[in-house]
Amino acid sequence: MIFDKAAHKRRMQWFTAARYGMFIHWGLYAIPARGEWHRGWHRMKTEDYMEYFEEFDPVDYDPKAWAKAAKEAGMKYAVLTAKHHDGFCLFDSNLTDFKATNTKAGRDLIREYVEAFRAEGLGVGIYYSIIDWHHPHYPHYDDANHPRRQDPEYKDHKYDFNIYLEYMHGQIRELCTNYGNIDILWFDFAYDNLIGEAWKATELIKMVRELQPDVIIDNRLEHQGDPSLRKREPNYYSGDFISPEQLLPTDGILNEDGERIPWEACITLNDNWGYTAADTNYKPPATVIKKLVECISKDGNMLLNVGPDAKGNIPQQSLEILAEVGKWLHKNGNSIYNCGISDLPKQEWGRVTQNGKKIYLHVMEPMVGLIPVIGLSGDKVKKVRLLADGSELYTVDDWRTQHMISNQGENKPKDLMFIYPGNSHKLPCEIDTVIEITLK
Ligand code: GLC
Repeated sequence: MIFDKAAHKRRMQWFTAARYGMFIHWGLYAIPARGEWHRGWHRMKTEDYMEYFEEFDPVDYDPKAWAKAAKEAGMKYAVLTAKHHDGFCLFDSNLTDFKATNTKAGRDLIREYVEAFRAEGLGVGIYYSIIDWHHPHYPHYDDANHPRRQDPEYKDHKYDFNIYLEYMHGQIRELCTNYGNIDILWFDFAYDNLIGEAWKATELIKMVRELQPDVIIDNRLEHQGDPSLRKREPNYYSGDFISPEQLLPTDGILNEDGERIPWEACITLNDNWGYTAADTNYKPPATVIKKLVECISKDGNMLLNVGPDAKGNIPQQSLEILAEVGKWLHKNGNSIYNCGISDLPKQEWGRVTQNGKKIYLHVMEPMVGLIPVIGLSGDKVKKVRLLADGSELYTVDDWRTQHMISNQGENKPKDLMFIYPGNSHKLPCEIDTVIEITLK
């Protein structure tokens, strides 16, 4: 099976236009409220973790409210954890009893999520952990992550990984069959020897593509440090985009032929994915806006995480930050959606995004007086305006501009213009004032 580059290009179009999505980590681990790795970190026994299963009762779960919040935040798609490493399923799988249907919730929580987000016109993504700490045929002893990794009781644990794989493939078949169109499948994650074909990756992706021909898949069936999507001939199961976690690549991501390839940075809003009551280290709205712009300016997407509590509420502080960013996007969204890296270089005062003949200058630091734009000459420009209110700005070329250029005479950069921002040093939006340049 070979990786079909034309099909890849086609299915990625909506994704690279959408640019901004909501990651949602939610499961039993919201009860102890110390992050989704709780069971692994504390090496908990199954019977101890089952107490959370008995207790789980998300009385406030209202995916319509989540979808509304995502939409108002300016997000275009979402990805929810149908199953995380603890193995607990939010969906009604026929292959396990360890599922929301058998908790006090008594129903398929993924179905409600899919319906609610679809109703808001948002893309629907499903995160599925290929790691599983609940399944008896998943490696326990000496595994890198399993909660019982050093429990001598499991030293001679007999297991058959093929039985687990059958279960895993079966669950992915359920997710690809029972919920209509799925826009994104987000696998997490291959490690050590459990890489690629160890998961029967070709067989898996073949099945997924048959059931969901247009679904976009992340790259985590492969080792994250060595994504074959960067190679000239990616593996069939390479996935469609690279998924840098808690970092933004310095210069976007190129393949070995120097072509830009799609990526999506997944980022937490505080310092944890799963609900963590004590973690109030939230990123301010200004940071989120700047990092979102940074992603687009490097041709990437941003998947920003929220971790609802055990009752099903997205933390108030998260909602407030999302809403603030949403307000900025409401006015400045044209510089984000459908945009990507610009032909202009990175500039002193901020970053640049572009959509065809529209160039968006994201001015994040006030200049004294004029704003220099390196790499563009004034005669190519048709119109310059503030994106937020449409007011026009003018370009300037007088004796003052000469002082802003260190190389004079013959070495003076040819492609350089200056914009007069309306006043000398205070930007209309202190976080990011967007200037829209329309090219002739
Ligand atoms: C990591 C973690 C996981 C989280 C994911 C998000 O792989 O194991 O808890 O869901 O990153 O990218």
